Amino acid sequence: MKGVFLLIEPHGGVLKKSVLLPSELDEYRKKLPRLKKIYLDEIEASDLTLLANGAYSPLTGFLNRREYHSILDNNRLTTGTVWTIPIVLSADSGLEYQTGEELALVSDRDQLLGMLRVEEIFPRDKEKEAISVFGTTDRNHPGVDYLFKKGDWLLAGEVKAAGRKVSAFPEFELTPGELRKEIQKRGWKSIVAFQTRNPIHRAHEYLQKVALEMVDGLLIHPLVGNTKPGDIPAEVRMECYQALIKEYYPPERVILSVFPAAMRYAGPKEAVFHALVRKNYGCTHFIVGRDHAGVGAYYGTYDAQRIFDRFSEAEIGIKILKFENAFYCGKCGAMASEKTCPHQDQDRLFLSGTRVREMLRKGLPLPTEFTRAEVGQVLRKFYGG
Ligand code: ADX
Repeated sequence: MKGVFLLIEPHGGVLKKSVLLPSELDEYRKKLPRLKKIYLDEIEASDLTLLANGAYSPLTGFLNRREYHSILDNNRLTTGTVWTIPIVLSADSGLEYQTGEELALVSDRDQLLGMLRVEEIFPRDKEKEAISVFGTTDRNHPGVDYLFKKGDWLLAGEVKAAGRKVSAFPEFELTPGELRKEIQKRGWKSIVAFQTRNPIHRAHEYLQKVALEMVDGLLIHPLVGNTKPGDIPAEVRMECYQALIKEYYPPERVILSVFPAAMRYAGPKEAVFHALVRKNYGCTHFIVGRDHAGVGAYYGTYDAQRIFDRFSEAEIGIKILKFENAFYCGKCGAMASEKTCPHQDQDRLFLSGTRVREMLRKGLPLPTEFTRAEVGQVLRKFYGG
């Protein structure tokens, strides 16, 4: 008997869920021909699901003007609750819709995803948003480019979703409520979440296992929503994660579940968002290593760690485990970091992303000090090597 204990409180106090009941869904399907439709892209569709299943608590819908600007100006909702990434729904025109109107949210394949009750229609301040969220207006940044391609208006309002899941991996997609139940069932009082958009290499494994020495359980929570071209597809990564866990992780200490959000590449702002959302999934600790959620050279190596200094521990609520750049050191004969290894660069194994891809394409094995052989094999298959 594991005993009943209180799980970590969700952000803002309660998990806010708003999924349509089957009877309500039937009602909406009947009304559908009379409602205006808004087509959601993949990123908006995943945001809708995450708003509705409680992952984005305390948000319950797409942001209104006051909340949007409050986040951009202060990294907080108007209540003072910390929130760093605007969750919004864009539209090309502000004239087509009216406040109070109910809109059908549909996928590009015309599938009903949910409903929005329009509370407000307001202009998107793209320059301000780009600077606040990404720290740049450079269109070469994938998040900035996406932002500038979207419509100039935002539709705010409470949403209801047709379903609780959105990814291509339903059997691995636990909602915050389901994950919380699983944590209770396992009797874990502390659980560390690991966000990733990459295969798990030895450095990632090292961070996870160092963290796991201090807590009861590990949640490997790969992001499987939209990522930029060039990132390794989620199906391939899922194969890597399963191969790795099977051979190298104690099954009773780890959960593999997917996080169906899109990557924003917002570095520090996204690190805070990633942490708060994992608190909603029931985790007590969150790993932030080097250049978390970074892209190119837009952020400093440890900016995503330093941003947490701007908030009190209580208002973040989930404990942030900060890790230095990790590598394999030949002289230590172990994974290490500057904090633990006194040796020189020539003793340490560093492989650039470009070199790794080149080796995989040529069918060359990656050093096992960099990537486990089982993971390397899945990646070689993907790269055709
Ligand atoms: S991310 O965009 O999801 O952050 P990635 O999958 O590369 O990218 O990283 C997952 C987590 O591992 C992040 O917290 C990142 O900071 C951390 N990380 C990745 N590689 C290393 C490394 N060599 N040393 C320390 N931390 C790392």
